[in-house]
Amino acid sequence: MTESNLLKAILQDIREIPPLPEVTTKVLQMTNDPDVSAAELNRVISTDEALTANVLKLCNSAYYGLPRVISSVTQAIMYLGFQTVRNMVLSTAVDHVYSKVDLSAYNHTQNGLSEHSFAVAVASQVISKRLRPGLGDTAFTAGLLHDVGKIVLAKYVRGSKERLIELSGSPHITRDAELEILGTDHAQVGSQIADHWNFPQELTLAIGYHHNPEDARGRPLLAVITYLANNVVLRLGNGLLSGPVVLAISEYCAEATGYTEETVDALGEEVRGAIQSMATAANKGR
Ligand SMILES: [Fe+2]
Ligand SMILES: [Fe+2]
Repeated sequence: MTESNLLKAILQDIREIPPLPEVTTKVLQMTNDPDVSAAELNRVISTDEALTANVLKLCNSAYYGLPRVISSVTQAIMYLGFQTVRNMVLSTAVDHVYSKVDLSAYNHTQNGLSEHSFAVAVASQVISKRLRPGLGDTAFTAGLLHDVGKIVLAKYVRGSKERLIELSGSPHITRDAELEILGTDHAQVGSQIADHWNFPQELTLAIGYHHNPEDARGRPLLAVITYLANNVVLRLGNGLLSGPVVLAISEYCAEATGYTEETVDALGEEVRGAIQSMATAANKGR
Protein backbone atom coordinates (compact mmCIF):
# COMPACT_ATOMS: atom_id res chain seq x y z
CA MET A 1 0.00 0.00 0.00
CA THR A 2 1.37 3.47 -0.81
CA GLU A 3 1.64 5.91 2.07
CA SER A 4 -1.30 8.04 0.89
CA ASN A 5 -3.51 4.94 0.51
CA LEU A 6 -2.45 3.82 3.95
CA LEU A 7 -3.38 7.18 5.47
CA LYS A 8 -6.74 7.08 3.67
CA ALA A 9 -7.43 3.60 5.08
CA ILE A 10 -6.50 4.77 8.59
CA LEU A 11 -8.79 7.80 8.28
CA GLN A 12 -11.63 5.55 7.16
CA ASP A 13 -11.07 3.31 10.21
CA ILE A 14 -11.23 6.37 12.50
CA ARG A 15 -14.56 7.41 10.95
CA GLU A 16 -15.94 3.94 11.53
CA ILE A 17 -15.18 3.85 15.26
CA PRO A 18 -18.52 3.62 17.04
CA PRO A 19 -19.45 6.46 19.36
CA LEU A 20 -18.95 5.95 23.09
CA PRO A 21 -21.99 4.33 24.77
CA GLU A 22 -24.87 6.77 25.21
CA VAL A 23 -24.81 6.40 29.00
CA THR A 24 -21.14 7.42 29.07
CA THR A 25 -21.69 10.49 26.89
CA LYS A 26 -24.69 11.51 29.00
CA VAL A 27 -22.79 11.09 32.27
CA LEU A 28 -19.88 13.15 30.94
CA GLN A 29 -22.26 15.95 29.96
CA MET A 30 -24.20 15.80 33.21
CA THR A 31 -21.16 16.04 35.46
CA ASN A 32 -20.16 19.27 33.72
CA ASP A 33 -23.55 20.76 34.48
CA PRO A 34 -23.74 22.29 37.97
CA ASP A 35 -27.56 21.95 38.08
CA VAL A 36 -27.63 18.16 37.84
CA SER A 37 -28.68 16.38 41.02
CA ALA A 38 -27.31 13.11 42.41
CA ALA A 39 -30.74 11.52 41.82
CA GLU A 40 -30.67 12.40 38.09
CA LEU A 41 -27.15 11.05 37.66
CA ASN A 42 -28.18 7.92 39.52
CA ARG A 43 -31.12 7.45 37.14
CA VAL A 44 -28.87 7.55 34.06
CA ILE A 45 -26.13 5.27 35.44
CA SER A 46 -28.62 2.77 36.85
CA THR A 47 -30.02 2.04 33.37
CA ASP A 48 -26.79 0.11 32.75
CA GLU A 49 -26.44 -2.84 35.14
CA ALA A 50 -22.84 -3.78 34.32
CA LEU A 51 -21.77 -0.15 34.67
CA THR A 52 -23.53 0.19 38.03
CA ALA A 53 -21.89 -3.01 39.33
CA ASN A 54 -18.47 -1.77 38.26
CA VAL A 55 -18.91 1.65 39.85
CA LEU A 56 -19.94 0.04 43.14
CA LYS A 57 -16.97 -2.36 43.02
CA LEU A 58 -14.56 0.55 42.52
CA CYS A 59 -16.18 2.59 45.32
CA ASN A 60 -15.74 -0.31 47.73
CA SER A 61 -12.05 -0.76 46.97
CA ALA A 62 -9.60 -0.07 49.78
CA TYR A 63 -8.30 3.03 48.00
CA TYR A 64 -11.26 5.14 49.05
CA GLY A 65 -11.21 3.73 52.59
CA LEU A 66 -14.91 4.45 53.11
CA PRO A 67 -16.30 3.57 56.54
CA ARG A 68 -19.25 1.63 55.11
CA VAL A 69 -20.21 -0.49 52.12
CA ILE A 70 -21.60 1.57 49.24
CA SER A 71 -24.60 -0.17 47.75
CA SER A 72 -26.13 2.41 45.43
CA VAL A 73 -24.95 4.98 42.92
CA THR A 74 -26.64 7.74 44.94
CA GLN A 75 -24.54 6.80 47.96
CA ALA A 76 -21.41 6.66 45.77
CA ILE A 77 -22.04 10.23 44.59
CA MET A 78 -22.71 11.38 48.16
CA TYR A 79 -19.48 9.91 49.53
CA LEU A 80 -17.11 10.37 46.59
CA GLY A 81 -18.55 13.23 44.57
CA PHE A 82 -19.70 13.65 40.97
CA GLN A 83 -16.25 13.87 39.42
CA THR A 84 -14.97 10.62 40.91
CA VAL A 85 -18.09 8.76 39.81
CA ARG A 86 -17.69 10.29 36.35
CA ASN A 87 -14.09 9.00 36.18
CA MET A 88 -15.31 5.53 37.12
CA VAL A 89 -17.93 5.57 34.36
CA LEU A 90 -15.38 6.70 31.80
CA SER A 91 -12.84 4.03 32.89
CA THR A 92 -15.46 1.33 32.41
CA ALA A 93 -16.44 2.59 28.93
CA VAL A 94 -12.82 2.82 27.81
CA ASP A 95 -12.00 -0.68 29.13
CA HIS A 96 -14.79 -2.00 26.98
CA VAL A 97 -13.35 -0.34 23.84
CA TYR A 98 -9.74 -1.37 24.57
CA SER A 99 -10.48 -5.00 25.42
CA LYS A 100 -11.75 -5.77 21.89
CA VAL A 101 -8.42 -5.17 20.14
CA ASP A 102 -5.27 -7.34 19.98
CA LEU A 103 -2.55 -4.91 21.04
CA SER A 104 0.34 -7.36 21.36
CA ALA A 105 2.16 -5.64 18.46
CA TYR A 106 2.27 -2.59 20.72
CA ASN A 107 3.93 -4.59 23.50
CA HIS A 108 0.66 -4.83 25.47
CA THR A 109 -0.55 -7.94 27.28
CA GLN A 110 -4.19 -8.96 26.92
CA ASN A 111 -6.10 -6.10 28.58
CA GLY A 112 -2.69 -4.43 28.87
CA LEU A 113 -3.83 -1.16 27.30
CA SER A 114 -6.57 -0.87 29.95
CA GLU A 115 -4.07 -1.53 32.73
CA HIS A 116 -1.49 0.87 31.29
CA SER A 117 -4.08 3.59 30.63
CA PHE A 118 -5.69 3.36 34.06
CA ALA A 119 -2.25 3.61 35.66
CA VAL A 120 -1.42 6.66 33.50
CA ALA A 121 -4.78 8.22 34.51
CA VAL A 122 -3.95 7.77 38.20
CA ALA A 123 -0.40 9.08 37.65
CA SER A 124 -1.74 12.11 35.75
CA GLN A 125 -4.02 12.91 38.68
CA VAL A 126 -1.15 12.56 41.17
CA ILE A 127 1.13 14.81 39.07
CA SER A 128 -1.55 17.43 38.39
CA LYS A 129 -2.24 17.70 42.14
CA ARG A 130 1.32 19.00 42.46
CA LEU A 131 1.58 21.09 39.32
CA ARG A 132 -1.95 22.46 38.92
CA PRO A 133 -4.59 21.09 41.29
CA GLY A 134 -7.58 22.33 39.23
CA LEU A 135 -6.69 19.99 36.36
CA GLY A 136 -7.17 16.74 38.31
CA ASP A 137 -10.18 15.22 36.56
CA THR A 138 -9.28 16.40 33.07
CA ALA A 139 -5.78 14.99 33.66
CA PHE A 140 -7.34 11.66 34.66
CA THR A 141 -9.33 11.60 31.41
CA ALA A 142 -6.30 12.52 29.30
CA GLY A 143 -4.32 9.70 30.94
CA LEU A 144 -7.09 7.22 30.31
CA LEU A 145 -7.30 8.13 26.63
CA HIS A 146 -3.72 9.10 25.70
CA ASP A 147 -3.04 5.88 23.75
CA VAL A 148 -6.53 5.48 22.25
CA GLY A 149 -4.97 5.80 18.75
CA LYS A 150 -3.44 2.35 19.23
CA ILE A 151 -6.86 0.73 18.75
CA VAL A 152 -6.90 1.92 15.14
CA LEU A 153 -3.20 1.62 14.32
CA ALA A 154 -2.69 -1.84 15.89
CA LYS A 155 -3.56 -3.76 12.73
CA TYR A 156 -1.21 -1.64 10.61
CA VAL A 157 1.55 -2.03 13.21
CA ARG A 158 1.01 -5.81 13.12
CA GLY A 159 1.53 -5.75 9.37
CA SER A 160 4.94 -4.06 9.65
CA LYS A 161 5.95 -5.35 13.06
CA GLU A 162 9.47 -6.57 12.18
CA ARG A 163 10.52 -3.33 10.52
CA LEU A 164 8.99 -1.25 13.33
CA ILE A 165 10.80 -3.23 16.02
CA GLU A 166 14.06 -3.01 14.12
CA LEU A 167 13.76 0.76 13.74
CA SER A 168 12.71 1.18 17.40
CA GLY A 169 15.60 -0.96 18.59
CA SER A 170 13.26 -2.71 21.06
CA PRO A 171 9.83 -4.43 21.15
CA HIS A 172 8.43 -1.17 22.52
CA ILE A 173 7.67 0.66 19.26
CA THR A 174 8.67 4.31 19.15
CA ARG A 175 6.70 7.18 17.69
CA ASP A 176 9.57 7.93 15.29
CA ALA A 177 9.39 4.39 13.89
CA GLU A 178 5.60 4.70 13.41
CA LEU A 179 6.07 8.00 11.60
CA GLU A 180 8.75 6.54 9.36
CA ILE A 181 6.89 3.37 8.39
CA LEU A 182 3.21 4.40 8.59
CA GLY A 183 3.43 8.14 7.95
CA THR A 184 1.47 8.82 11.15
CA ASP A 185 1.61 7.74 14.79
CA HIS A 186 -0.78 6.59 17.52
CA ALA A 187 -0.78 10.02 19.19
CA GLN A 188 -1.97 11.84 16.03
CA VAL A 189 -4.53 9.14 15.31
CA GLY A 190 -5.66 9.36 18.93
CA SER A 191 -6.30 13.08 18.64
CA GLN A 192 -8.38 12.42 15.50
CA ILE A 193 -10.44 9.88 17.44
CA ALA A 194 -10.89 12.42 20.26
CA ASP A 195 -12.17 14.87 17.63
CA HIS A 196 -14.50 12.23 16.25
CA TRP A 197 -15.89 11.80 19.79
CA ASN A 198 -16.24 15.58 20.18
CA PHE A 199 -13.87 15.85 23.11
CA PRO A 200 -12.77 19.33 24.20
CA GLN A 201 -9.69 20.74 22.52
CA GLU A 202 -7.38 20.61 25.54
CA LEU A 203 -7.97 16.86 25.71
CA THR A 204 -7.40 16.42 21.97
CA LEU A 205 -4.10 18.32 22.25
CA ALA A 206 -2.91 16.33 25.27
CA ILE A 207 -3.61 13.06 23.44
CA GLY A 208 -2.01 14.28 20.20
CA TYR A 209 1.17 15.51 21.87
CA HIS A 210 1.69 13.10 24.75
CA HIS A 211 5.07 12.07 23.30
CA ASN A 212 6.22 15.57 22.26
CA PRO A 213 4.41 18.23 24.33
CA GLU A 214 6.98 20.83 23.25
CA ASP A 215 5.43 20.80 19.76
CA ALA A 216 1.83 21.44 20.90
CA ARG A 217 0.30 24.83 20.17
CA GLY A 218 0.55 26.92 23.34
CA ARG A 219 2.54 24.09 24.95
CA PRO A 220 -0.34 23.11 27.26
CA LEU A 221 0.54 21.80 30.71
CA LEU A 222 -1.97 18.96 30.27
CA ALA A 223 0.20 17.46 27.49
CA VAL A 224 3.30 17.74 29.73
CA ILE A 225 1.46 16.02 32.59
CA THR A 226 0.30 13.20 30.29
CA TYR A 227 3.85 12.81 28.95
CA LEU A 228 5.28 12.52 32.47
CA ALA A 229 2.55 10.18 33.69
CA ASN A 230 3.18 7.89 30.71
CA ASN A 231 6.93 7.94 31.43
CA VAL A 232 6.35 7.10 35.11
CA VAL A 233 3.99 4.22 34.30
CA LEU A 234 6.18 2.70 31.54
CA ARG A 235 8.85 2.31 34.24
CA LEU A 236 6.37 0.30 36.30
CA GLY A 237 5.68 -2.04 33.38
CA ASN A 238 1.89 -2.35 33.97
CA GLY A 239 0.25 -4.10 31.03
CA LEU A 240 3.51 -4.44 29.05
CA LEU A 241 4.70 -7.75 27.56
CA SER A 242 8.33 -6.65 27.90
CA GLY A 243 8.05 -5.54 31.54
CA PRO A 244 9.34 -2.09 32.59
CA VAL A 245 10.46 0.36 29.88
CA VAL A 246 12.76 3.16 31.04
CA LEU A 247 12.98 6.24 28.80
CA ALA A 248 14.88 9.37 29.83
CA ILE A 249 12.64 12.40 30.48
CA SER A 250 12.93 14.99 27.71
CA GLU A 251 14.88 18.13 28.48
CA TYR A 252 11.81 20.26 27.77
CA CYS A 253 9.62 18.41 30.29
CA ALA A 254 12.33 18.33 32.94
CA GLU A 255 12.74 22.10 32.59
CA ALA A 256 9.01 22.84 32.42
CA THR A 257 8.28 20.98 35.65
CA GLY A 258 11.55 20.85 37.56
CA TYR A 259 11.21 17.05 37.66
CA THR A 260 14.31 14.86 37.71
CA GLU A 261 14.84 11.13 37.17
CA GLU A 262 14.60 10.72 40.96
CA THR A 263 11.27 12.59 41.12
CA VAL A 264 9.89 10.31 38.40
CA ASP A 265 10.98 7.14 40.21
CA ALA A 266 9.50 8.37 43.51
CA LEU A 267 6.23 9.15 41.72
CA GLY A 268 6.26 5.61 40.37
CA GLU A 269 6.23 4.22 43.90
CA GLU A 270 3.33 6.48 44.84
CA VAL A 271 1.32 5.48 41.77
CA ARG A 272 2.01 1.78 42.32
CA GLY A 273 0.65 2.08 45.87
CA ALA A 274 -2.47 3.95 44.73
CA ILE A 275 -3.26 1.37 42.04
CA GLN A 276 -2.74 -1.57 44.39
CA SER A 277 -5.13 -0.17 46.96
CA MET A 278 -7.71 0.54 44.24
CA ALA A 279 -7.51 -3.06 43.09
CA THR A 280 -8.10 -4.40 46.59
CA ALA A 281 -11.83 -4.80 46.92
CA ALA A 282 -12.92 -4.11 50.46
CA ASN A 283 -15.29 -7.08 50.23
CA LYS A 284 -17.22 -5.78 53.20
CA GLY A 285 -20.74 -7.14 53.18
CA ARG A 286 -20.24 -9.14 49.97
FE1 LIG B 1 1.74 6.71 23.62
FE1 LIG C 1 1.16 5.15 26.93
